[in-house]
Amino acid sequence: MSLSLSEKDRRFFFHPFTALKAHEESGGKIIASGEGCTLTDVDGGRYLDAMAGLWCVNLGYGNQRLKDAIADQVTKLSYYHSFSGMSTDLAVELSERVISLAPKNMAKVFFGNSGSDANDTNAKIIWFYNNAIGRPEKKKIISRFRGYHGVTVLSGGLTGLKNLHEGFDLPLSMIRHARPPHRLWEKTPSMSDADFADQLARELEEMIIKEGPETVAAFIAEPIQAAGGVIVPPAEYFPAIQKVLKKYDVMLIADEVVTAFGRLGTMFASDLFGLEPDIITVAKGLTSAYIPLSASIVSERIWKVLRDGSEKYGAFGHGYTYSAHPIAARCALETLQILEDERMLERTVKQGALLHQLLQDTFKDHPLVGEIRGKHLIGAIELVDQKNPAKAFDPGEKVAIRAAKRSMELGVITRALPAADTLAFSPPFVVTDAELEKMVSTVRTAVDEIAKEIGR
Ligand SMILES: Cc1ncc(COP(=O)(O)O)c(C=O)c1O
Repeated sequence: MSLSLSEKDRRFFFHPFTALKAHEESGGKIIASGEGCTLTDVDGGRYLDAMAGLWCVNLGYGNQRLKDAIADQVTKLSYYHSFSGMSTDLAVELSERVISLAPKNMAKVFFGNSGSDANDTNAKIIWFYNNAIGRPEKKKIISRFRGYHGVTVLSGGLTGLKNLHEGFDLPLSMIRHARPPHRLWEKTPSMSDADFADQLARELEEMIIKEGPETVAAFIAEPIQAAGGVIVPPAEYFPAIQKVLKKYDVMLIADEVVTAFGRLGTMFASDLFGLEPDIITVAKGLTSAYIPLSASIVSERIWKVLRDGSEKYGAFGHGYTYSAHPIAARCALETLQILEDERMLERTVKQGALLHQLLQDTFKDHPLVGEIRGKHLIGAIELVDQKNPAKAFDPGEKVAIRAAKRSMELGVITRALPAADTLAFSPPFVVTDAELEKMVSTVRTAVDEIAKEIGR
């Protein structure tokens, strides 16, 4: 007798970020198709996807232009590599396009397959840079608690979340973590945003001095910390941080895997927050996740050293079989063209305004909601045991996880973020007003039901 899909899933599929034993016992959802913001599972169940997959299917499921572009490219050229100076027309066109959209001073694009491998690439680039200019000690990288930068051996350590370290012997020894600009848990209530930003910048400076500035190579930051809780920094934060970085010649890596290509109404959030990065990480929205593709965008200053350094070290010894894969490159070019043709950046601002209006109207006075956060088409609510002063729930109660599960049963997929009881919203840009209303109202119903379950 053949096994059912669900049985095969439980027996053979080793799922990422999954409670392994629980999954083997009870299984999960198996999705079969998608259109716009709606997913359908193999049993015919339908769900509104308030998370665009994992913050990535920005143009929604089933986009006809992307389907056509990919199909056409498969028939023209399904693969060629970019090692040893080889290329494809698409990889070249995409590089030029990305640089034309990127913040000023960006010079070259190195392609990878995921945000994680791109952040590993970034570290290697910075180490190579410092070796090439005779600063072999300058190798440490500072990231922030609750920052999310991936899961590979290097980037998993950069990620500032405990469950990515424990059991894996991470982070690697050259990684340090600073406090994040998270008002709810890190700021004294009486402190102003400006004072909070100053305090975090002072702490960063103290850390750099303690480590020895000659040993600190880079600081990595998401403009908005997405997976760590949708944390929007005070306006004063990045200017204060960048002053410190410049003072000690510490490079800035802007991890824009979630924020680049429109979710915040700009092509790059670095421009929105006044960041002047040396390297930018992008992935997800670059292809709207139809095909895996990531990139490390490097500045002119870095490029010149790498170019001259490779005279000393030989050919740049880093790259992936699938770097600049032509199908992914074609998909990215089409994605960027659709963003322009369909004025998607304006749309994310407009739909984002509605999302935040709905979140405020629905949750402002909710007894369990300690903070409503976000900007444009990314939002979150954080559930707390007590407000004023804020007190977190016992993690064992899994309040947000239970609310997300209930929401899915009611037909809306939100995501309980790993660092706290936070429920996120990051819908596809094509989301309609009615879909946003349904997403927010369904999550409200789910939160109310869990509140009742825990006696509130
Ligand atoms: C900001 C950020 N950086 C890096 C990554 C890692 O990307 P990937 O899962 O493609 O390795 C993610 C994934 O969510 C992310 O949000």
